[in-house]
Amino acid sequence: MQYQADRKKDPSAVRATLFDDRAAVKSGRRKGFPGLAASLLLFLACAPDRDPPALALLETVPAAGAASPANAPIRLRFNGWLDPEGVAAGAIDLHSGDLSFGFTAGYDPVDRALVIIPPVDLRVGLAYRLEVMPEAVRGLDGRRLAEPITLDFVAGPPTNPRPPADPVPFARLQGLFARACDRCHGAEPLAWPPLTEQALLMGESLRDPGRRLVAPGRPLESQLVLKLLPGYPGVHGAPMPLEGPPLTADQVRTIIGWVEGL
Ligand code: HEC
Repeated sequence: MQYQADRKKDPSAVRATLFDDRAAVKSGRRKGFPGLAASLLLFLACAPDRDPPALALLETVPAAGAASPANAPIRLRFNGWLDPEGVAAGAIDLHSGDLSFGFTAGYDPVDRALVIIPPVDLRVGLAYRLEVMPEAVRGLDGRRLAEPITLDFVAGPPTNPRPPADPVPFARLQGLFARACDRCHGAEPLAWPPLTEQALLMGESLRDPGRRLVAPGRPLESQLVLKLLPGYPGVHGAPMPLEGPPLTADQVRTIIGWVEGL
């Protein structure tokens, strides 16, 4: 009913818009050139805001039509940071034919990827379809997908064992810090903070006051993690490490794993 009523309204809505346009041009003429130029400038200045570029998919793992190990997560990489609070699992569907499958939806900020993890292995040889509605993800800057994503793939034999879900002990970070960070953040730190468990758990950022160095269970509110994600909005100063080769994606994930497990 609602739809029909809207359709009936349509023709008059179009007329009203045309009429408004003519009126705008007329009043522009009356205002003369400066008035028109000002309107044009105003239009150009406002145009990007009215239609911000949409969030876009960069890559899927598996690729469309390819085989995915039955025990592997499905990853969708985007061209911007996602809002971790904006992932709506209800707008994502994983199915094979008429059968829908459960999953957990996570976010990997290292890859800027939505990660779909089926709780049990998929059935080898079956064709699956993952559908992601535009309301399923939101960019940290508010951007949305312009259209739904459909990914078809086939479950292949399981290969990589599932990563252990155990919390990462701090000891695993120490070797990493010793190699990449302790020159500046070691026992006699040249720069805040010293990378000890105590300082990280108790301390606050000096660069971004009000943010904790480590917020237990919340990696994207932890300055330690944010400093390792180059270009993350709202983080001041240089990405870490300040010198030397950047950490690998897996090393950053290890640090995220420690913060998540706290
Ligand atoms: C060459 C020296 C150097 C190295 C190596 C280095 N840092 Fe830093 N770090 C600094 C300096 C200087 C600052 C303060 C300036 C800034 O925030 O950009 C800093 C700031 C930080 C901060 C933020 C402090 C705050 O107040 O918000 C964190 C967290 C951090 N570093 C972690 C690390 C980690 C983890 C590593 C290793 C992966 C690392 N740093 C490697 C010099 C270094």
